[in-house]
Amino acid sequence: MKLHRLILAFGALSFGALSAVALSATPPRSADQIYQTYCAVCHATGWNGAPINGIEDDWESRAAAGFDAMLRNVKQGLNTMPPMGTCMDCSDAELRAAIEEMMKF
Ligand code: HEC
Repeated sequence: MKLHRLILAFGALSFGALSAVALSATPPRSADQIYQTYCAVCHATGWNGAPINGIEDDWESRAAAGFDAMLRNVKQGLNTMPPMGTCMDCSDAELRAAIEEMMKF
């Protein structure tokens, strides 16, 4: 009985340790990090008509189609914007955050 408890306790401990490792292996990236690393190369300058970071006029008509439509376009790629805006391992949440970052007016 005692041994059984010990095994249970050890199991709980190692599970805790493993999840801590899993979390630290993929640290969450901030919206600014994603934007600077993957999006700014085109969206800071308006390359090929890319809507420019922080310029409301550039985003107004696109935002009118809805945020989900914009997210879909980023994931699939849109004309000369490559799929995922080049951030191939970005989650939906990270892409959303990066778009929101560019739409701070
Ligand atoms: C290689 C250049 C390039 C990169 C890198 C890039 N974009 Fe774009 N993006 C564009 C261009 C060009 C357009 C305009 C496409 C069009 O309408 O023809 C665009 C359009 C968009 C739009 C508007 C989509 C719509 O529905 O109208 C969003 C949102 C967007 N980009 C987000 C991002 C995000 C987020 C990243 C980084 C993860 C990113 N882009 C990286 C070039 C780029």
